[in-house]
Amino acid sequence: MTIKEMLEQISTNTLEKIRDAQDTGALNDIKVAILGKKGELTSVLKGMKDVAPEERPKVGQLVNEARAQIEAKLDEKLKSINRLARAEKLKRETIDVTLPGKRKLMGHRHPNQIAVEDLERVFIGMGYEIVSGPEVEYDRNNFELLNIPANHPAKDEQDTFYIQRSASGESRDDILLRTQTSSVQARIMLEASDPTKERQLPIKILSPGRVFRADEVDATHSPSFHQVEGLVIDKGITMADLKGTLAQFAREFFGEKTKTKLRPHHFPFTEPSAEVDITCFKCGGKGCRVCKGSGWIEIRGCGMVHPHVLEMCGIDPEVYSGFAFGIGLERITLLKYEIDDMRLLYENDTRFLNQF
Ligand code: DAH
Repeated sequence: MTIKEMLEQISTNTLEKIRDAQDTGALNDIKVAILGKKGELTSVLKGMKDVAPEERPKVGQLVNEARAQIEAKLDEKLKSINRLARAEKLKRETIDVTLPGKRKLMGHRHPNQIAVEDLERVFIGMGYEIVSGPEVEYDRNNFELLNIPANHPAKDEQDTFYIQRSASGESRDDILLRTQTSSVQARIMLEASDPTKERQLPIKILSPGRVFRADEVDATHSPSFHQVEGLVIDKGITMADLKGTLAQFAREFFGEKTKTKLRPHHFPFTEPSAEVDITCFKCGGKGCRVCKGSGWIEIRGCGMVHPHVLEMCGIDPEVYSGFAFGIGLERITLLKYEIDDMRLLYENDTRFLNQF
């Protein structure tokens, strides 16, 4: 076979193979087998030394032509394979934009959470710092430092879940689930009166959180609910500051026309103590279903921090004074959204939650 014939044979075979190739892998194999270092066409070139010198330019030209033709065909086929693959991919991924969309279920904030955040915003606006305390507490912080010593009747009022009775027999070392966020008052005052701690006086904090009492579940009770505690300690703090603060809070939270009333009461850790009422935000004080006809709504307690509490927490009551208040969060949430059963807040039924 002459070189020319060999070249023609290689070209014909190769072009046929290119035509039949199905994918880019097959094309690549052909390229290597023909044009590669050990490929068929390359071997022909290597055989040039046996060709008579005057023939060489012509044969060289033939080889180059064959090579160029094969390369062109390879290129063309590669493009057509890619084009087909792309067309198929587009077909597979076609989206019918006229089909109805799938509605994604979106979570959102729980009514209690909405109320806490609204409350926090109001107090942050008045310069308060938001702090949190542990739900598992020592008796000392939850009771003793708040003027509720061993055997105090208030301990029975707040039926307590105990985690661990102290080995020493001293009730102050018992470990329990806090019955009130007032426990954070003790922690913060102790911290502020310790010169080695970063926090120092004055104090202006708000502490929302979960509290626990061994109560049966009904429409207004739950063994776990939430309170928001406020504490301000500085030089020269008076009852007028307390009243002004609560009145400002009530106006911002419940509406500009809301009035605040303090009713004398008793809490062990404040003296004097009061219960806080606000005019009903629903009827404005005329009397309605929400306020049970009285025109007033109780939101919890407050008072001037008892000097003995200050003393026990390392703060000199001759120099410093302060006020504290406690707000029942569920009470506010239930009233604000006119929900008449507390259990709805905990069942997490999305049909209920979606309404907020
Ligand atoms: N801790 C009280 C309770 O659980 C509420 C309370 C009353 C908190 C008066 C206070 C306060 O800070 O001054 O009922």
